[in-house]
Amino acid sequence: GPTGLGLEIVSIINKLQDVFSAVGSSASQIDLPQICVLGSQSSGKSSVLENIVGRDFLPRGTGIVTRRPLVLQLIHRPAGSEPNGAPKINGTDKNVNADEWGEFLHLPGEKFFDFHKIRDEIVRDTEAKTGRNAGISPLPINLRIFSPNVLTLTLVDLPGITKVPVGDQPKDIERQIRDMLMKYISKPACIILAVSPANVDLANSEGLKMAREVDPEGTRTIGVLTKVDLMDKGTDVVDILAGRIIPLRLGYVPVVNRGQRDIDASKTIQSALDAEREFFELHPSYKGKAQYCGTPFLARKLNMILMHHIRATLPDIKARIAQQQQKYNAELQSLGGTEAEASSGNVVLSVITEFTSEFRTVIDGGGNDLSLNE
Ligand code: GDP
Ligand code: NA
Ligand code: MG
Repeated sequence: GPTGLGLEIVSIINKLQDVFSAVGSSASQIDLPQICVLGSQSSGKSSVLENIVGRDFLPRGTGIVTRRPLVLQLIHRPAGSEPNGAPKINGTDKNVNADEWGEFLHLPGEKFFDFHKIRDEIVRDTEAKTGRNAGISPLPINLRIFSPNVLTLTLVDLPGITKVPVGDQPKDIERQIRDMLMKYISKPACIILAVSPANVDLANSEGLKMAREVDPEGTRTIGVLTKVDLMDKGTDVVDILAGRIIPLRLGYVPVVNRGQRDIDASKTIQSALDAEREFFELHPSYKGKAQYCGTPFLARKLNMILMHHIRATLPDIKARIAQQQQKYNAELQSLGGTEAEASSGNVVLSVITEFTSEFRTVIDGGGNDLSLNE
């Protein structure tokens, strides 16, 4: 939705992916990076992801709630093409749309139009595989969300880093969780959202510590500061944002997610985002830089990183398509075919060239969001 990843990049990349899939060239896949959240238990990871997607569907709460990795594939699907079984919408249930639904890998063919039911199923399957008593498992839950409002992209919600076993957790819970997280965040194509609560000293941030182990240059780590609303009066994150505490190349974004009371009262994402904006706009420490604060800015930062990633991979894709095209032309000629029959690859090449310049316009016109550190 309007709160999620920017529509501009959604439409540019989706156009590109549509052209590629129409031509059916395997050489032309755009592998978008996976986005993973990393941080201590209850630092607000699930809340941040949910705000980025713009829908309510993840279990959140105090204590260990996320106990298995959730691999969330967002899949763009144009509006107005409702699938079989789509519900009739009466306009009152804001949690149901006819063209947005989820499907679990472990429940093939079943479509979830009610996002609260998606959350129930995540909880149910987590308990089925790990028990009810705080057990964890590296076995991921695979969920696909089809929507006209998303970018085809993968996000991963991960259990938090903990130190002390509780409930049915094994003695070496810390190592088990670490190993699980490492599998995801050590991939070079993983963008790490290192989530740290602003009401805890940043030097204690386990997320930042682990992120630095796998990304020492800081080229794929974004700092996210949650719970800015819970800081002691008279304190703020200005020094962190300015890079004076633990500098991060891609900087930090402060956010305010829903608190436990908001969750218990079923506060909607939209009203939470309104409250977040108001918080930063009115706060004496942030009001001068409110545009660099909050979930919308985090989403824009992610957009920029994705744009740069894609622009960087386009020349390679182009080269691979050109190569394929040459091979195809040669084969066709040896069979007595014509150049015209081989033109689909040329279409792709010209589309990429066009998009490369479109990207440049968007990125260069978008300022230096990536290096923002004020
Ligand atoms: P996770 O364990 O890291 O996935 O954290 P959750 O997203 O489940 O959130 C843990 C708890 O912290 C929940 O009770 C949330 O309501 C609360 N929480 C998360 N972010 C914020 C925030 O920015 N402000 C406030 N007040 N509470 C938050
Ligand atoms: Na939690
Ligand atoms: Mg969680």
